[in-house]
Amino acid sequence: MSDDTADHELRISKIRDGTVIDHIRGGQALNVLAILGIDGSRGEEVSVGMNVPSDRLARKDVVKVEGRELSQGEVDVLSLIAPDATINIVREYEVEEKSRVERPEVVEDVLECPNAGCITAADEPVTTRFEVLEDGVRCAYCGAIVREDIAELIRE
Ligand code: CTP
Ligand code: ZN
Repeated sequence: MSDDTADHELRISKIRDGTVIDHIRGGQALNVLAILGIDGSRGEEVSVGMNVPSDRLARKDVVKVEGRELSQGEVDVLSLIAPDATINIVREYEVEEKSRVERPEVVEDVLECPNAGCITAADEPVTTRFEVLEDGVRCAYCGAIVREDIAELIRE
């Protein structure tokens, strides 16, 4: 069933062309935007719903980005903080593609290692590399494991 079948349930407008990231865990929408590098400063047309009722999750967040289709790499990284998310590619108002996010085995150049002694934290820029675990990520250089607040490690 659609979340907005009836007019009185409509919370966010439909988009014409772009991506709807649905079923994001409640409270993670801003982290999803951070991962995608979207802060509104470049005029992107973005709608965000937070803690809206959902059939599948108790509460969910929704992000709608007009005029942008997410790449597989972007979707992979999203899986770290939004493992239940559904990616809907919309063209001419219709959902043309729907997929679930999948956890990648490694993420490169996305996260910053929290260990100040890590080689990747030196002045010389190094491509970071984290292995994705069941319940977190592990730095491939120093072995530091992060289980919570992974979004805080996202590289600027
Ligand atoms: N959507 C949108 N703009 C469109 C089409 C769809 O914003 N032009 C949004 C819907 O509001 C919904 C999501 O994209 O949040 C998925 O749309 P749809 O597949 O039609 O809804 P459901 O069947 O409820 O999806 P699911 O089964 O994944 O829950
Ligand atoms: Zn490290």
